[in-house]
Amino acid sequence: MANKHESMHIDPYEKTWIIVSILMLAVFFGAITVAGLSFGVRVPDPVARVNPTDLQASGTFAEPGLKEVAPKRYEAYIVAQTWSFNPREITVPAGSIVKFYVTSRDVQHGFKLQNTNVNMQIVPGQVSSLAVKFDEPGEYDFICTEYCGIAHATMYGKVIVVP
Ligand code: CUA
Repeated sequence: MANKHESMHIDPYEKTWIIVSILMLAVFFGAITVAGLSFGVRVPDPVARVNPTDLQASGTFAEPGLKEVAPKRYEAYIVAQTWSFNPREITVPAGSIVKFYVTSRDVQHGFKLQNTNVNMQIVPGQVSSLAVKFDEPGEYDFICTEYCGIAHATMYGKVIVVP
């Protein structure tokens, strides 16, 4: 049924796949929209910038660790480096809200906290941050999720939540 005035002929199979491609784009766009608006999934945006070669001058990362800012409210400043986290272990009481601030002093690392929705990319020069409420006592391991060299698999630490 080719129309003589049609300037472009599209093969039926090709036409099908063009339509499928457009539908897939629409589905992906919808999925991203739902993830962002309904489930709070978002691209981790850096909350601050620091000089990775001089964390001493950064103030907050000069002495990494846990700081109590109010009863059961903490800020945890953690420095990632090949191949460890500093500090490696923090302890908080159950029911605490901990806001993590993580940066790297050398290469790109990851920070994934088990049994929570925290999974951040840690880029030198940037500070990544997310908050978690720890309701259940227990141990929550955090691990590096970005390959950062030979001992990447040994790069981990833990949050201990005590009753
Ligand atoms: Cu740090 Cu992998």
